[in-house]
Amino acid sequence: MTADDVPAAERLSAVAFGEVDALATPRGWPVPPPRSPARSEGWIRRTQPLLDTDPGGCWAAVDESGLLGFAVSVRRERLWVLVTFAVRPGMQGRGIGRQLLQRAEEHGAGCDRGILSASEDQRALHRYHAAGFALHPQMMFAGEVDKSTIPAVGAMREGTPDDLQWIDDLDRDLRGAPHGPDHALLAGMTSRLVVTAERTGYAYTTPGGTFVVAARDAGTASRLLWQCLADAPGEFEIAHVTTANMWAADVALRARLKMRTEGFLAVRGMAPPAPYIHNGSLL
Ligand SMILES: CC(C)(COP(=O)(O)OP(=O)(O)OC[C@H]1O[C@@H](n2cnc3c(N)ncnc32)[C@H](O)[C@@H]1OP(=O)(O)O)[C@@H](O)C(=O)NCCC(=O)NCCS
Repeated sequence: MTADDVPAAERLSAVAFGEVDALATPRGWPVPPPRSPARSEGWIRRTQPLLDTDPGGCWAAVDESGLLGFAVSVRRERLWVLVTFAVRPGMQGRGIGRQLLQRAEEHGAGCDRGILSASEDQRALHRYHAAGFALHPQMMFAGEVDKSTIPAVGAMREGTPDDLQWIDDLDRDLRGAPHGPDHALLAGMTSRLVVTAERTGYAYTTPGGTFVVAARDAGTASRLLWQCLADAPGEFEIAHVTTANMWAADVALRARLKMRTEGFLAVRGMAPPAPYIHNGSLL
């Protein structure tokens, strides 16, 4: 995959994931709107650098009609991460995805751990299971935060570049690898990096939802999540909560958010990280 493929990949992914979202959204929940120009730009901005850090992990399938599909994956120390993966609607179910995933997986050949956040697409789930991944259901929580429920959270401060080293050590302990170069992308996707004063946990967050929450223990992770909720001006979303992280479900329900399941965390060679709320693409 080259930089020239990225805009077409963005369009292809918007259509392919739009179809999956429309089918998977339960009754009573809003179907996500079509991807906005700002989100499309964000997708391109965070995908482009991955072609530089991990050229061997990013593959495109093309024919004379253009881009048929793509897989973007990265290797971070011992961990292989499938960032995103899609085949053009109308061309799915013909073996293109299998070939793309095979190439992307070769990039992670030396890794004893693998991780990805899967949609509810049956073809994707069968593919990951066949590739040796265990599939763990994810919960998501959304709605207006009841601010009267928010407890005192203790000392927190804004994260700085000086914090990235201990954050990488924490991520290494929790998921087997640091985010390393992906911190720049996470910072670009979010508005805030909050850390505990004791350097025991961090959260990448936005006014509308969490991106990553990680800590040395569940109590600290809960405090960080409360801090994210306290900053929410309106509707807030906490996605990608596995059953290894019921502390997060506890916080979200106490804050009176609505609850549902959404997609799966796929892991190979490791258990679902905890206490940890992963990001959907950079994990
Ligand atoms: C997931 C996706 C990338 C797979 O690509 P693809 O080209 O459709 O996949 P393939 O044809 O190579 O393989 C699909 C597998 O699912 C199986 N499959 C096909 N239709 C199926 C169905 N309705 N139910 C269950 N399994 C099915 C196929 O047998 C094949 O398995 P096999 O290789 O062991 O025989 C593609 O379907 C897609 O873009 N989906 C929408 C976006 C998405 O959800 N991406 C994944 C994000 S985690």
